[in-house]
Amino acid sequence: MLSADAEAARRAAKLAKVEYEELPAILDIRSALAAQSFVIPTQTLRRGSPTEAMAEAPHRLKGSLELGGQEHFYLEGHIAAAVPGEDGAMLVYSSTQHPTEVQHKVAESLGLHANAVTVQCRRMGGGFGGKESQPALFACVAAILATKTGKAVKMRVDRDADMIMTGKRHDYVSDYEVGFDDHGRIQSLRVMIASRCGYSADLSAPVNDRTICHLDNGYYLENVEIVSHRCKTHTVSNTAFRGFGGPQGMVVIENIVDEIAATLGLDPLDVRRANYYGTGNENEGRNVTHYGQPVEDNILDAITDQLEASSDYRARRKAIDAFNAQSPVVKRGLALTPVKFGISFNATIYNQAGALVHIYTDGTVLVNHGGTEMGQGLYTKVAQVVATELGLPMDRVRVSTTDTSKVPNTSATAASSGSDLNGKAAQAAAVTLRERLVAYACERYQLDARDVRLENGKVLLGTETKEFEAFVREVYAARISLSSTGYYRTPKIHWDRATLTGRPFFYFSYGVACSEVAVDTLSGETRLVQVDILHDVGTSLNPALDIGQIEGGFLQGAGWLTSEELWWNGRGELKTHAPSTYKIPTARDWPLKATVKLVENMPNREDTIYRSKAVGEPPLMLGISVLQAIRDAVGSVAKANGMKTLPPLVAPATPESVLRAIESCKAKSK
Ligand code: MTE
Ligand code: MOS
Repeated sequence: MLSADAEAARRAAKLAKVEYEELPAILDIRSALAAQSFVIPTQTLRRGSPTEAMAEAPHRLKGSLELGGQEHFYLEGHIAAAVPGEDGAMLVYSSTQHPTEVQHKVAESLGLHANAVTVQCRRMGGGFGGKESQPALFACVAAILATKTGKAVKMRVDRDADMIMTGKRHDYVSDYEVGFDDHGRIQSLRVMIASRCGYSADLSAPVNDRTICHLDNGYYLENVEIVSHRCKTHTVSNTAFRGFGGPQGMVVIENIVDEIAATLGLDPLDVRRANYYGTGNENEGRNVTHYGQPVEDNILDAITDQLEASSDYRARRKAIDAFNAQSPVVKRGLALTPVKFGISFNATIYNQAGALVHIYTDGTVLVNHGGTEMGQGLYTKVAQVVATELGLPMDRVRVSTTDTSKVPNTSATAASSGSDLNGKAAQAAAVTLRERLVAYACERYQLDARDVRLENGKVLLGTETKEFEAFVREVYAARISLSSTGYYRTPKIHWDRATLTGRPFFYFSYGVACSEVAVDTLSGETRLVQVDILHDVGTSLNPALDIGQIEGGFLQGAGWLTSEELWWNGRGELKTHAPSTYKIPTARDWPLKATVKLVENMPNREDTIYRSKAVGEPPLMLGISVLQAIRDAVGSVAKANGMKTLPPLVAPATPESVLRAIESCKAKSK
């Protein structure tokens, strides 16, 4: 019945006739640059003396990179339901990473105050950044229609409409010049990087700021100039996507490093290592980022050593060279690339969170926190924290729906900081409760706090043991509150948006991936043959969830850079708006040989929740190793044709893109 109604609604919507005049449009980045069409002002970051250092560098090269966008392809599309309440109040169920923003937008669209609008989200069927700013549109339409009709209204778009209407990962172009020494160490770098923001700013300012902050990836850039243009085009407004602009900056530097290696005839891994940040304890320094934050927790050398050995990188490099020398059509490629990713929202204000924890008199616990669940396992991690603090088994702790009326003024669940922020807030609430329970026990049983312990659903009171629920009933009878809020704000961080300097990140997460690909040089098709990953999550809160995030993130990153192609026609219409034409990776794209390991015995040196590290976004950038491996395979064709440079490879490296790169090697050799 319901689906028949939704179909009828869709058919009715199609009957609407929209009349408009076609005006000249700016559709791509180069056209926007030519027309100086920007949605927000250009930002420039300069450190050291890039011009002088460039002139003095023994080697120089110039290049360009084109990098495509990405559709989020959350399995559940955008959806919202609005239910009118008393006195004009509105309850909205929304598939959103940002219930508070939906609350504000719905209130604005209805002319209500925030206290009249409640937004709830039990879980999303995936968000990936696509439900940070975009859900408000659907929630507001549902709420306006619910107000007009006085009835509950559900708003759900189908896949094609969702893909056409909503913002995606920003695509970028970049032009650069780099100066380097005989070891491939970068002495100066000048980069122009421009993104397609679409017709309004949306989250483009922070996304592009993060691109600037991640253009270094793991590499020390002593003299550097980054000019970041935020292009206005007549296409949909682009938005957050896992990595939030960081991956795009990192692909630029990874491509530059590979070009340096090709020019000098060095192994790209050696050039990477020559450019790694220093560890900070040496006199040579080399450990302050271009935005002024010291890198105090650098573990890249250690984990690169480990992966280089466990993946047998050097021997495989030799074997691949030998294979390529005798294989005319299929070429293999190998790349071991690092990830360094800053954790915290760049904008300091968002790095705060709240929680609300209740203990009921049957000994069960209900946790509410400001984070949302989208498949990353945040609810499980927060429940684990509360269970640990109260010494309870997991089945006693339930996490309730995220609800703006329970925890107010929340930040989006984004920037990978969900468990860092909400885990700490929930811990604070649980500790307050535990301290109340312990204080009661000390007074009632004349015990020292040391002799009271909460463990395995029991309370140890000196020599006596009570069930948690019996004890809690006593505490209730003594008229002591069994409910508490908790609050957390990230320490140490600050950021000046105007000068692009500060310490925006509490710490960095690291990882390394080694990918091997096979490329068919006649068809341009590629296959990921093997991947070995070593990823840093500090002390893992939940290894199963963390491994899941690493595998999923890696494959989503590889998909972005190899097969997921967004294609607009000359009128600015997106033509790849369904899985038939937009190819996300599937289970069959997972390589037959794969190892995914967590870095062991390296707790976070900062005081995060149980010394863990954020894991949501960083693994996506492990996928860059796949693009660089394809470039390595293309490079073997270039080398065989006597070229001393790497031809450009447009990402995504679809068969067409790979073939174009290969053809350009052959053309040059003639
Ligand atoms: N994992 C799943 N399964 N689904 C998602 O939508 N979103 C990613 C990442 N992992 C996502 C995911 C993004 S973009 C972010 S910012 C983080 O999860 C958000 O959650 P966290 O902060 O709790 O890690
Ligand atoms: Mo993630 S892009 O910060 O939602």
